[in-house]
Formats: sequence, structure tokens, C-alpha cells
Amino acid sequence: MVASQINNLLNHPQPLHTSMNDLPPHFDSAATSNMVAAAKNVLKSNILGAFTKPAPSLYPHQWNWDAGFIALGYARSDFRQACSEMTALFRGQWAHGMVPQIVFSVKNVGKYFPGYFFWDTRDVPLKPRNTRTSGISMPPVHGFVLNRLLQLTPDQKAYRPFFRRMFDRVLLLHQYYYQFRDPDREGLAFICHPWESGMDNLPTWEEVFSQIHFNDSEVPPYERRDLEHVDALYRPRQQSYDRYIYLVNRMRQQRYQEPEMWDDFPFQVQEPMFNAILSHSNEALLEIGAWLRRDTGQLREWHTQTNRAINDKLWSESRGIYVSYDRVQRRQIPLTTAGGLIPLLCSAPDAAQTARMVALLQSPVFAGEPEHPAWLCASTALNEPGFDPHRYWRGPVWINMNWMLYHGLRRYGHHPLAERIRADSLELVRKYGFWEYFNPWKNLPEGETKGGYGSNQFSWTAALTLDWLER
Ligand code: SER
Repeated sequence: MVASQINNLLNHPQPLHTSMNDLPPHFDSAATSNMVAAAKNVLKSNILGAFTKPAPSLYPHQWNWDAGFIALGYARSDFRQACSEMTALFRGQWAHGMVPQIVFSVKNVGKYFPGYFFWDTRDVPLKPRNTRTSGISMPPVHGFVLNRLLQLTPDQKAYRPFFRRMFDRVLLLHQYYYQFRDPDREGLAFICHPWESGMDNLPTWEEVFSQIHFNDSEVPPYERRDLEHVDALYRPRQQSYDRYIYLVNRMRQQRYQEPEMWDDFPFQVQEPMFNAILSHSNEALLEIGAWLRRDTGQLREWHTQTNRAINDKLWSESRGIYVSYDRVQRRQIPLTTAGGLIPLLCSAPDAAQTARMVALLQSPVFAGEPEHPAWLCASTALNEPGFDPHRYWRGPVWINMNWMLYHGLRRYGHHPLAERIRADSLELVRKYGFWEYFNPWKNLPEGETKGGYGSNQFSWTAALTLDWLER
């Protein structure tokens, strides 16, 4: 398939098969319209003016990659709000290009930990003066979100200034990654904190932390707020939280000064999903840049270099999937997680690699056994020792991961498997509601009826459901 055909496939939403025929029969048109209405209600109830919070009480501010997925949910019904999500997030962009993981809402001060004052970014010269933000970033979905918005815009001419402005902002963000997070100029950006991956609690980070030694006195006193909203069974353990806070403390002590801060920073991981998202956003910017008649030479170089590096450094031949690389210990981290499949999205894998990943998705590693089947796709593989079907990122299915996987598989022509992922996602939402994450086992143990965890009324679950159901 030539590149333009691939881009066309990926960027122009495919018409859904008539009568939703890839979905189970109970997804008739009445059920579908009910689901669309319910999803819109979730977004409506979480809206805070210019942006939509990810969840009613667990996440009461604006989050970085959430904003991108949420924008997609508004794209067909309220395009202005879709643009507003992006504009509001980029108000938090720092002078060197970094877009923070959280833009804090002044209204909800004190309702979340770690809040603005804990991050202590107030006097950091790079931070925009009038916006309260955290001090780390998140996966750069904004390029590909922007390109999808461009395909869905009701009026290309009227929205041209928006796209022009956002193109420059997102380009600056990518420059930030290549300048400050890729010290060896390999084409791979490192993350400095599990929260930057968006997949906070993967067992992968345990492996990295096992090599980081610190005293209790290096963890400042703090009080978690998440457990006021969600049962501890579904959230990260205390030990993980201590480590998250230890890293934040190091960065705030160094006043977020880059690149100096990285000289002896112990957490530097090149993660496949993060880099695949960066790469796919590069290609998306290439398209938008062509439309805006911009010079896109640099973007082309980045895209080629990053895809090559993802293959050279992050592919695990023994596992048949991409894995993270610890820059400090100079080794791959041998763990099978859903993030390792996301390079399908940016066309990094060749035919043989794709075949390995497609086989893995259909094998007991992700699909379970005939007598114990699983919904696709567990965040941490079912056979990993760290797998836990209830706990944040240790196994549950996430709708945003499935959405990216769906598009990645379509890109390679694996339509039936892509449709299965879409059907599994919509069935989970229908069965349990708009939860943040879901138990990957199809048959829950006797007596267990709750299959959705974290926060209910979760915005990106609703937004991506809309993207899948609306035409
Ligand atoms: N997801 C994080 C949390 O659980 C923050 O990015 O609070």
C-alpha cells in the first residue's frame, strides 16, 4: 500500500458497515442511539467551560492526552468545543515547547493530589505566567488528533487560523521532545516519570524502580486523594505512589531545568507507545503542513528516524512485540504490554513483525483460552507475573488503547481483528458503563459482577465510543 493510501485509510474515518454488522445483534439502531445519547451526557456532565475534565471527581482538572481523545468525541457534534479542548490545553504550553500533563482549574484547587502547589512550578521561568500546570508531559497525541479534526471540520476556511495556530504549537512540542528528550539524537524520546507514559502503573516501571535507590527522607510527606474516590484494590499501591512522589520531588528541587536536570536523573525510559504516538503525530503534521503550505522537511526526517529507531531499539524478537528500553541501565525491559503493539499506528513494523503481533493478540497471551476467554486488549498481558485484572494498568482493558490499536490494525489491513477490538470495547461499555478501565476476563469469578473500575462517567471512554458509533 502506498503511503498516501495508508494515510487516507487512517485519517478519513471509514464508514461503519451498515447496520453495525460487526457488532453483536443487540447493537440494533435503538441500542446504538441510546449509547450515543448516554456518551454525550457523560461529556456534558464533565464539561468545565473551555475544557472537559476526564472524570467527575477523581480527575477534576484538564489532562493532556485525555484532552486529545475528548476532542475527538466532540468533533462531529460540537466542533467548537473540540477546538476549545485543544486551545485550553495548549494555554499551558511551556516556553521550550513542553505541554504539561495537567493544566489545573482554579475552581478545583485542593481537590486533587498532587496539585499545583505541590508541583511548585509557579516560579519556573518557562511556565506560562497565567496558567497553573504540573511539570511533566504526556503522550503527544495532539498531532494526530488535529489531523482528524481537520478531516471532520465543518468549514476548512473558517477554521484555518485555528489549524495554523495549533500546527505551530504542536510542532514546537515535537521540537521539545527531539531537543530535550533525545540526548543521543536517536529519534526516540524518553519519559522521566510513569505519569508521562499515561500508563502510570505498568509493571514495567517496577523493573526500572528496582534499580533506583532512595531513603524515605527523600519522599516528602504527602496525602493521596485518589483513594477517597476509588477502592484501593483498583489503584496503584502505596509503594508505587512513594516512587512517583520521589521523582516529582527531584524535579521540583531542580526547578525543572532542562537539560541539566537529566544529567543524573534515574528514570529515563524509551517506551514504544509514546514514541509511536510521537511518530504518528509527525506524519499527521506532515499532512496538515502540506495543507497549510509549510515546509515539512524536518517532520519527514523525524518520522523516518523515529520509526527506524523504534525497530532498532525497541523490538523484542523473542517476544514478538515492542518493549521499553531503560536508558540508565542500558537494557530492554522484557515485559509484554498493550503499549508494545501501538507502533502499528505509525507504520513502524514490517510484515513479519506485524504477523507476530497479530498472532500474539489472538494467542492466550492476550485472548485467553477457549474456556477462559478475554476481551481484547489487556493493558498488561494475561501471562505476565505482574498481571492483575483489577488494578490500574496491571491488566484491565482501556478504551483509548483499543482505539489506537484499532486504527493500527486497519492500517495494515487487519480489518476483522480491528473490528473485534471495536466490538469488544463497545460491548464492555454496554455491559458495564463508561468506566475508566475494565476487567479483561469475559467470565468474572462467581459472585463478582463489577467489571468496570476506576472512575465511572469517564470522558475518553464516552468520547471514543462516540467516535466509533457516530457517522
Ligand atoms: N493518572 C494520574 C493519576 O492517577 C495522573 O496523571 O492521578
